[in-house]
Amino acid sequence: MAFCEWDDSYSVEVPKADRQHQRLFDLINQLHESIAKDEPEATVDSVVDELDTIESVLDELVDYASHHFSTEESYMLEYAYAAYASHKAAHEHFVQRVCTFQRDFEEGRALCSIEIIRFLKDWLENHIRTFDKQLGIFLSANRLTRERVSGRTDRETDAAPHSEMTSPDRRLRSLNGA
Ligand SMILES: [Fe+2]
Ligand SMILES: [Fe+2]
Repeated sequence: MAFCEWDDSYSVEVPKADRQHQRLFDLINQLHESIAKDEPEATVDSVVDELDTIESVLDELVDYASHHFSTEESYMLEYAYAAYASHKAAHEHFVQRVCTFQRDFEEGRALCSIEIIRFLKDWLENHIRTFDKQLGIFLSANRLTRERVSGRTDRETDAAPHSEMTSPDRRLRSLNGA
């Protein structure tokens, strides 16, 4: 069984965000696998390989988390989400912590321990269940309201949130105090 497993209970009802969350779960699992390997006959080469693997997965985790956070933040801006600032601050705090750990790891001051990986897992799960679910509910309501007014179907809007702005969107912006 994987260290952290995405299931429907983590869905935020925004397909693109769900896919990105699944990718983040995968990367945390890769980190966990890299330290969970039982190698009774480890050699210098195998230890170096392991450190290289951890370094490249950490790089990808930082890059992909930043990409994912940008996606969510662009939705929040597009739809004038009231909790944008606090949600963005949570993202930034996480990136700062992971970047600090990444630097410490690369400079040999920290090991990639189970505690670090558990922190990543717990943070992601907790963030999805709170901040991201709230955002998902907001975006779904926004989308449904627009469809009701515009007559657009769910299939047409599956990639939502959308880039183009319609008049109902603008009305929702003003309702949100933007
Ligand atoms: Fe988020
Ligand atoms: Fe997220």
